[in-house]
Amino acid sequence: MSQQTQSRSRQRCEDCGNEIGELDPAAVCPRCGGLLELEHDESLDAATLMTAFVARRAAMTGADHSGVWRYRELVLPSIQPNEIVSHPEGNTPLLERRAVAMWAGVERLLMKHEGHNPTGSFKDRGMTVAMTQARRTSARAVACASTGNTSASLAAYAALAGVPALVFVPAGKVALGKIAQTMAYGARTLLVRGNFDDCLRLAREASAALGIHLLNSVNPFRLEGQKTIVFELLDQLDWSPPDWIALPAGNLGNTSAFGKALREAHAAGLIARLPRLAAVQASGAAPFAQSFRGGFAERVQVDPDTIATAIRIGAPASWDRAVRAINETNGVVTSVSDAEILEAKAVIDASGVGCEPASAASVAGVRQLRSRGVIAPDARVVAVLTGHVLKDPGAVVSYHQETEPPPSHANRPITIEPRVSEVERVLAEGKR
Ligand code: F0G
Repeated sequence: MSQQTQSRSRQRCEDCGNEIGELDPAAVCPRCGGLLELEHDESLDAATLMTAFVARRAAMTGADHSGVWRYRELVLPSIQPNEIVSHPEGNTPLLERRAVAMWAGVERLLMKHEGHNPTGSFKDRGMTVAMTQARRTSARAVACASTGNTSASLAAYAALAGVPALVFVPAGKVALGKIAQTMAYGARTLLVRGNFDDCLRLAREASAALGIHLLNSVNPFRLEGQKTIVFELLDQLDWSPPDWIALPAGNLGNTSAFGKALREAHAAGLIARLPRLAAVQASGAAPFAQSFRGGFAERVQVDPDTIATAIRIGAPASWDRAVRAINETNGVVTSVSDAEILEAKAVIDASGVGCEPASAASVAGVRQLRSRGVIAPDARVVAVLTGHVLKDPGAVVSYHQETEPPPSHANRPITIEPRVSEVERVLAEGKR
């Protein structure tokens, strides 16, 4: 299979420009250790691309149904359908909820809900591509460091591909839903005494030493898959770009992928202008936001702490390419407090949409940028919700049931005796 593959892409080092082949399994540039990015040889025009996308949209099964592989010309053009490892993924909704828009102060706010992916987060979009590539290059095992979503996704795709999986997660700092998924899907789970940054360092060292294929977002194939969040949302808007795309930022893989997607969509003529990116960090884990305030003069590291465990990261790996994404889109980076994240989450949850804490950072960021006058009141904004509400049930229970005094959006459960009169009493009290 892979021997017959005709390469149509190259991996290029972002630091030294060194080029290696599409099927080279190197995790980083073999010459200087820099991060690799994929470059595709062929550039197709917008009309040809759109015809291919539309033709695949009708499919209901298999890789053609995938919201990642629909855009394969821009992801991995050489791929053969029988090589693809797909659950399938993508095809996530673009939602409009008045209550959330009102709270954020931006009337034309849409939410791209990546929690609708098969394992409940956007990670599946990158994982289908990286796992496909790992199998194509005959990887004997795959590994990642994770705050929980990447590990859940890797575990599910490794199970599908039939490849052994090893994950490194910070002990005691992974939300319940994510650690449960990782174990359930059968990955060998290592609880590391350290934070995510320690896990990533260990995963990189162990992969290099033991010949294991690393599937963190330093892997350029992950970013190719994650670009399709942007392609799909633009497609859903008939290729009429919004003014802003807001997303939570941790290790900065997604911010980098969004920048690359926008650059390529613009170069292909799919969109006439670039939306601005708003990358939002939690204030207790905001090295990128801090650096942005200083014009990116310094690469900052912090000791991270936030309730949004998914983005509890102090030394982001995809730094330089994320800087490029922000600069090229005239974007901004900001940070929001845990209290703001939890309030945004409560509003999103109560709209019936629901998301995990890190995801709510995007909407909290939109509200803050609106109040600072950075985002105009009539701007068209897409906020990306990166993970499902059930990823972190602990955060929900503690917010609604345990926080003292109850936050303004708390929905306290009420314990009653098994009598109709009790129900009547509760109804008479009205809606808190
Ligand atoms: N939102 C969620 C729900 C995440 O899980 C992550 C990252 C991010 C946002 C930030 O994306 O790292 O590309 O800037 N989660 C990784 C993981 C670190 O291991 O699951 P990023």
